[in-house]
Amino acid sequence: MNNKFKIFLKNCVNSNFNYCTFIREFDEKILSVSRSYTEIPGPKPVPFFGNTWRFIPIIGDFNIQSIDKVSKQLHENYGDIVKIGGLLGRPDMVFLYDANEIEKVYRQEERMPYRPSMPSLNYYKHKLRKNWFNEEAGVIGNHGESWYNFRSKVQQVMLQPRVAHMYIGAIEESSQAFINRIEKIKDHHDETPDDFLNEIHKWSVESIAQVALNVKLDCMSDNSSDETQELIDAIHTFFTNVGILELKIPFWKIFNTPTWKNYVKSLDTIFNFTTKYCNIAMKKSKNNKKCPDEFSLLERILEIKGDTKLASVLAFDLFLVGIDTTSNAIASVLLQLASHPEKQLILHNEIMKILPSKNMKINPKNIEDLKYLKSCIKETLRLYPVVIGNGRCMTKDTIINGYHVPKGVQVIFQHCIISNKEKYFPHCNEYLPERWMSESERRHPFASLPFGYGRRMCLGRRFADLEMLIVLIKIIQHYKLEYKYEKLDYYINPVYTPKGPLKIKFIKRN
Ligand code: HEM
Repeated sequence: MNNKFKIFLKNCVNSNFNYCTFIREFDEKILSVSRSYTEIPGPKPVPFFGNTWRFIPIIGDFNIQSIDKVSKQLHENYGDIVKIGGLLGRPDMVFLYDANEIEKVYRQEERMPYRPSMPSLNYYKHKLRKNWFNEEAGVIGNHGESWYNFRSKVQQVMLQPRVAHMYIGAIEESSQAFINRIEKIKDHHDETPDDFLNEIHKWSVESIAQVALNVKLDCMSDNSSDETQELIDAIHTFFTNVGILELKIPFWKIFNTPTWKNYVKSLDTIFNFTTKYCNIAMKKSKNNKKCPDEFSLLERILEIKGDTKLASVLAFDLFLVGIDTTSNAIASVLLQLASHPEKQLILHNEIMKILPSKNMKINPKNIEDLKYLKSCIKETLRLYPVVIGNGRCMTKDTIINGYHVPKGVQVIFQHCIISNKEKYFPHCNEYLPERWMSESERRHPFASLPFGYGRRMCLGRRFADLEMLIVLIKIIQHYKLEYKYEKLDYYINPVYTPKGPLKIKFIKRN
């Protein structure tokens, strides 16, 4: 222990003890004995372009779509904490690879934690389309009081298991439509087409539309409307452009680049869509004499303010982040089950035991009992977390891994690397859903956090879980899955996406 620090502790014990003074002085001492921020190892910035040049195609060595590999390399080169400083137009980033340190940062979280993401969306909501959003700027890309007020209004409704359970029937319906779609699109070898991921997106859109807008879009039918396809394309455009705007040289802050224009157009399309359906739902619910207990999520949100603004902004956010996340998670689970027939067999037996007939209606108790299915999802998200790194922007000076990290720095928790480390998960490269079944197995609670943690934790988690469980029940009831090709690599888009055709065999069960 540092000598100055020992003297401080000795003085505390000898002097009259005052808890508040102790804590304040303790913090100050900790800060004073920690190593300085400049000592954090990391790639050196160059004059003028800092480290931003690394994100420039051809000359740079940081490919946005392979940030997982870049991050692994940085960890190997520099250790458990790595600084990427000198980024044009944005704060420094500190990558963190230690679950204990991540736990400390999360546990120190204040009332309004900042997630370092999406200044472009913040600009869209607060400046460009200020008239649409006003005080209600939602939760995605929004921070501080505005985030806190919005989240406080919607979180209780969003996270109530009872509200989520009201959607079991609707999600079952969209999952059945997905099964019908698979029957139509698979070839005579029972294999799905190359763009199968796009079909999974449609199922995801259909499910979210039921939850957020009380509407059946029918996206999986042959004659689905142009409006639905436009919405799917808009969400895709938003996702492909957001990483470019966030990490490359931010020319969009100076003039309207083509990427920025496409980005804004896609957001406008999503906003117009959600507003249109919220208005329809508002009219319907006025004529509908239900008792409050039977209110859907949308009706409950509409009740809060009596206007559609809150509901349409919430729906906008749910559409933004609730589609690609769930669909890529499902793509990954299907790949794992198809590649591990022995695990798939255990899962099939579990489902047959709890829901022996395909025609049985799923109820909350069945969902509760499907422990192996839940473990299959957890294990897939450990190996392939759809959000590869979460983070917090420091709201005060903090000691991390022994270094003094100043307020304003963005600390990014490298979940994808951590949850694939032997140190935290023995046999980390193997697909072992069983590891989540055992109560006695010791696991670091912060080594795999696919939905984040704390006050900003995923707001759609209950719905995401429900959607994934129900569609997987349906698929495993109907099909045996096989995958006979090379293991797929993954890329960042910006969610963790299997790279290559999802050619999975769906062999009908009797
Ligand atoms: C497998 C699917 C999903 C995964 C892995 C996932 C993961 C995450 C993660 C890691 C965060 C950041 C949490 C944090 O900062 O601590 C987040 C935030 C969020 N998620 Fe999800 N998510 C999924 C599905 C969904 C769905 C289906 C919805 C909507 C119905 C949704 C809505 C949100 C919202 C609104 C936030 C922002 C919360 C806030 O900032 O207050 N997510 N999600």
